Formats: sequence, structure tokens, C-alpha cells
Amino acid sequence: MKREVLLMEIVLLCGSLRKQSYNRKLLNTIKEHAPSHWTFTEIAIDRIPFYNADVEERRVPDEVTVLKEGLTRADGVIIVSPEYNNGMPAVVKNALDWAASPPQESPLPKKPIALAGASPQGAGTVQAQTQLRQTLIAIDAYVMSGPKLLVGQVHTRVEVEDEQITEEGTVKRIKKYVKAFDEWITTLSE
Ligand SMILES: Cc1cc2nc3c(=O)[nH]c(=O)nc-3n(C[C@H](O)[C@H](O)[C@H](O)COP(=O)(O)O)c2cc1C
Repeated sequence: MKREVLLMEIVLLCGSLRKQSYNRKLLNTIKEHAPSHWTFTEIAIDRIPFYNADVEERRVPDEVTVLKEGLTRADGVIIVSPEYNNGMPAVVKNALDWAASPPQESPLPKKPIALAGASPQGAGTVQAQTQLRQTLIAIDAYVMSGPKLLVGQVHTRVEVEDEQITEEGTVKRIKKYVKAFDEWITTLSE
């Protein structure tokens, strides 16, 4: 008997805030090649104030409430992020710190999460992803171990004015990656 395919809500977080971001182009390409039963919600993380337990105690900022509600609804989360100084950008860590607190109310434990990143350098954000993985494991999220989506030398794969990456090798890897994440979400929900 053929299994019914249910809609899946995928929340996207982008770690680059700049207009012509290569990671934004990678995010667009992931959306383009995603399974047809995925729906997307991108949550903006650039207006979230720095984590402060005093602020959290007084009143959780609206941007954080939007983040937490989105993550709660999500069947899976994809974090597409650049690497800064061998680590994840502060804006990503800040969003995760808010989302992880307080731990008993966090939407992140057991949440299927996939990482992706692009860089003009050769290693394609491997160190940022390693750091992200370490943080997400501490939060008890279920991070997909592979296939890893590390797009190195990205400036040779896409033009600055293009919205998406069309280079064949990268597209092939993205198709494999979204298929694997779809299976990861399904397996974890069984
Ligand atoms: C402060 C800073 C630190 C950076 N550190 C790294 C790094 O450690 N590794 C790396 O691969 N690229 C590094 N880069 C280069 C970024 O990968 C590059 O600027 C990239 O285009 C940023 O992603 P975006 O295009 O999505 O904004 C750094 C860039 C900046 C601005």
C-alpha cells in the first residue's frame, strides 16, 4: 500500500543579513528543489534583541515569541548560515539561545534540524556547522548528521546578481540533501 504523504512545515533561519548574500542564494535554491509536500516559513532573526534573562523574566520580546511559535509548529528546521571567524554568526547563536530558554519550554529538543552554508572559501562553513552542531546537541535537537551541505568557493558557482545557484554539481547535492532531510523528519516522527 502506498503511504500517504503529509504536508511538512519547514522553518528556515538565515544567518546572513546582507542583500546579496550567498547563503540567501543557497536558501532560495534549497526551496526550489525541496519536495512538493514541504511548505516554508522563514523567521527573521535580525531584530531579536540580545539574550538577557532579566528581559526574559519581565516580558519576552515579540520577535522571540514569533521565533518560538514558529519553531514549535515546525516539522523541521533548516539553518542556512555563513561562517564568521571559524564560528557561527552572533545573530544565529542569539536566536538559538532565546529559543532554548527556558529549557522546559523550549521547542528545540527533539526537533529535526539540518544545517547548510556557503562560503567563498574552500571549506564552505564546516567550522560554523561544527559549532552549530555542538550547540544544538547541547539543546537536545536532532541534527541530521549527513549528507552535509557545505558549499565552498561559492562565488565560482553563482553570479552575484542571481537569486539561485544553478550550477549542476551543487544542485545535485542539494537534491540529495533535501531528500535525506525529508527521510530524517519522517523517521523521527515514527
Ligand atoms: C567578519 C567576517 C569573518 C569571516 N570569517 C570567515 C570564516 O571564518 N570562514 C569562511 O569561510 N568565511 C569567512 N568570511 C567570509 C564569508 O564567508 C563571506 O563574507 C560570505 O560571503 C558571507 O556570507 P553571505 O554571502 O551569505 O553574506 C568572513 C566574513 C566576515 C565579514
